[in-house]
Amino acid sequence: MNRRNWLALAAALIGVGVLAAGPAQAQGVVKVGVLEAMTGQQQSTGKQTLAAMRLYMQQHGDTVAGKKIELVVKDDAAVPENTKRLAQELIVRDKVNFLVGFAITPTALAVAPLATEAKVPLIVANAGTSIITERSPYITRTSFTLPQSSTIIAEWALKNGVKKVVSIVSDYAPGVDAEKSFNETFANGGGQVLEALRVPLAAPDFAPFLQRARDANPDAVFIFVPSGQGATFVKQFIERGLDKAGIKLIGPGDVTDDDQLNGMGDQVIGTVTAHLYSADHDSKLNKEFVAAFKKANDGMRPNFMAVGGYDAMALIYAALKKTNGDTDGDKLMAAIKGMAWESPRGPISIDPETRDIVQNIYIRKVEKKNGELYNVEFQTFDAVKDPGKAKKAPGN
Ligand code: PHB
Repeated sequence: MNRRNWLALAAALIGVGVLAAGPAQAQGVVKVGVLEAMTGQQQSTGKQTLAAMRLYMQQHGDTVAGKKIELVVKDDAAVPENTKRLAQELIVRDKVNFLVGFAITPTALAVAPLATEAKVPLIVANAGTSIITERSPYITRTSFTLPQSSTIIAEWALKNGVKKVVSIVSDYAPGVDAEKSFNETFANGGGQVLEALRVPLAAPDFAPFLQRARDANPDAVFIFVPSGQGATFVKQFIERGLDKAGIKLIGPGDVTDDDQLNGMGDQVIGTVTAHLYSADHDSKLNKEFVAAFKKANDGMRPNFMAVGGYDAMALIYAALKKTNGDTDGDKLMAAIKGMAWESPRGPISIDPETRDIVQNIYIRKVEKKNGELYNVEFQTFDAVKDPGKAKKAPGN
């Protein structure tokens, strides 16, 4: 064929859509756009999540239902304007079939309208504010919600001699969710909330808040800080002598993050939290996951963010198997709803009504095992739905 004939053929094919820009361009490839914080204050979340996504692909192969899976990774540094701009690029230029990641709530919220407009499934692997999944019918979640663990630690505290608390939370959406769900549950059960304190998210100095908490003389401080800030908080808690004053530390398990726990010192032993994942979780799958993750990442211990990333890949693989490799956004969302599988954290599923995650929440206590600090699970609440949604009418 000469050049002119080639051009004529190309024009004809474009006319029938075969060469048109769009998913048809790459029939055999499924592109997963990853929007993560690889730099900045939340970079440990990006590092953990991406490492786990890569591990999943290494363990399960990079081909599903005849399609090759390709990650397209963008660093948003957890700045929502970046996330929005990069998501636009991923949708328009890279023509991704999924959007995954979202180290903090504001980055997920920034992209929700784009997911709806482009009909691209968006999987929240990290962020934990209840409302996120309500912002688009194309959003689902493999992380957690703050009310899932905060209500459960409130019940535990009421049953275990905690009568007065001061709550301290990061001053943004998930902190407000944690504060509201803990304080309401605790007060409804007869507990007393002495003060509800909020600390800036960026570069926080906890000392003045801890001093106020100490002065109020509570039985316990309820704390929510996002993954990555736990070590700083615990250090200041100990420096201010709250542990010596007999004040307990309780909260969702973000504070005793597996990523930092080992460096927190023995003063943290005995801290009780409620959470979805511990690297110490006792299952065959988790033992294999932890060993493989450490091996692939210079001994780094996986945390709850890693598990969110691992399960995001598991969900993508399972959805594609179910659609036979069809990447239509509506078909993928239909496949995702009701999906159930075993995660390194235990059994999980996607609520078909809310598209949010249903998972076990474990009560854990920090203990030393073989010379290392772990969150050791001692009580399980099975198949917990997001209490932030359970109160509303079905479908919302
Ligand atoms: C969030 O921004 O939603 C978020 C981030 C880190 C956490 C929990 C929640 O550990």
